Amino acid sequence: MIQLQCGDYPIFLGDHLFQSDVLPQLCRDLRKRLVIITDTNLVDTHGKALWDILLAQGFFVEILTFSAGEMYKNRATKQELEDALLSKQYGRDTCLLALGGGLVSDMVGFLAATYCRGIPVIYLPTTLLAMVDASVGGKTGVNTPLGKNLIGTFTQPHAVCMDLSMLQTLPDREWRNGIVEMIKHALIADADLFRKMQGSDNLQVFQSRTDLPALIQHNCEIKKSVVEQDEHEQHMRQLLNFGHTIGHAIETLEDYQVAHGEAVAIGLLVESYMAVQAGHLPSKVLSDLQELLKKYGLPLQTKAFADQAVFLQTLVLDKKSVQSIPRFVCLKDIGQPLVIKDSYTHQVDPKQLKQALDWAAERFNPRLCERSEAIPGIKIRE
Ligand SMILES: NC(=O)c1ccc[n+]([C@@H]2O[C@H](COP(=O)([O-])OP(=O)(O)OC[C@H]3O[C@@H](n4cnc5c(N)ncnc54)[C@H](O)[C@@H]3O)[C@@H](O)[C@H]2O)c1
Ligand SMILES: [Zn+2]
Repeated sequence: MIQLQCGDYPIFLGDHLFQSDVLPQLCRDLRKRLVIITDTNLVDTHGKALWDILLAQGFFVEILTFSAGEMYKNRATKQELEDALLSKQYGRDTCLLALGGGLVSDMVGFLAATYCRGIPVIYLPTTLLAMVDASVGGKTGVNTPLGKNLIGTFTQPHAVCMDLSMLQTLPDREWRNGIVEMIKHALIADADLFRKMQGSDNLQVFQSRTDLPALIQHNCEIKKSVVEQDEHEQHMRQLLNFGHTIGHAIETLEDYQVAHGEAVAIGLLVESYMAVQAGHLPSKVLSDLQELLKKYGLPLQTKAFADQAVFLQTLVLDKKSVQSIPRFVCLKDIGQPLVIKDSYTHQVDPKQLKQALDWAAERFNPRLCERSEAIPGIKIRE
């Protein structure tokens, strides 16, 4: 088992960690009533197994469930969970155990942040994405019809326990979503990690890598290091949003039918394209990135760019916008973000933004994808 310290809270990482004494010990120390909150896909499998483990350790624990799916990460679900807890008279003497992917940690983290003005939460991430990204850093929140994660808090969990054996049941699509966040970490902070991600020929090879636990740990360390320098995203933490300005708009416009990682994969390409256009990033990085994402089987298709005016309106709602002008993270090279006078995000010339969205509309349009596959390499600045 590995233990990292992120700010005030520990992150434990290990195979079959839930069968160890780590979680029971954390719960004993807290002396709180325990409620597992998970999604409908996980309740009968990992939810029930965890419940059995805690029961066998002598804890009284209940399970609350909410519908799986990004469209349910909203204020209504939070309210339903709050009402369920209140009706069962859970008070400040409660600790929530958030068992699931990033959606569960975002939702339950937000719930814990405001319930009775704040109660502890322990994150038990079950997806690769939640392990390498969402469970570290303390961002919580829900979506609104106007955009992603627009309502939420920065609230750190009491602890994070990652049981790597959870990944054994993870569908391939969810593996890909996690891989995208790992590639994002590589792009903003670590060229060596990018090379390592290039080292697997396909998803199956990646899944059986013996260094997978080390890779997960390394990704947690990258995220932790950024977050520790800027917990409230005033400057450096914005780097973690690389690919997300475009990605979040895609998710919103696709009504969350395109998964977070799938949308961010397209976002990484479009935002890299903008960096190439602006003369900051060598075009080879863009073609290497595209090749890497394809190798892992990312679909790279969306209808979201079909109406550019609508896309721009959605883009403006991004939380990094200043006076309704969207701002983007920009790369100079792999692992080297552009930083100008302590600013980690940058405005893009409207003409170049339009050109990038035209490029994206052509390249990622599901109807045209077959054709654009046949175009060798990537053409920029004809
Ligand atoms: N707070 C942050 O810093 C942060 C960072 C990145 C992403 N996020 C958020 O995380 C969410 C995406 O997280 P996600 O990709 O983990 O999605 P998710 O939580 O929706 O999980 C994806 C699917 O996998 C299923 N699942 C989870 N674990 C499983 C397992 N072990 N075996 C089988 N199925 C399993 C879930 O039921 C769900 O259907 C988005 O809402 C995104 O905004 C937050
Ligand atoms: Zn993300």
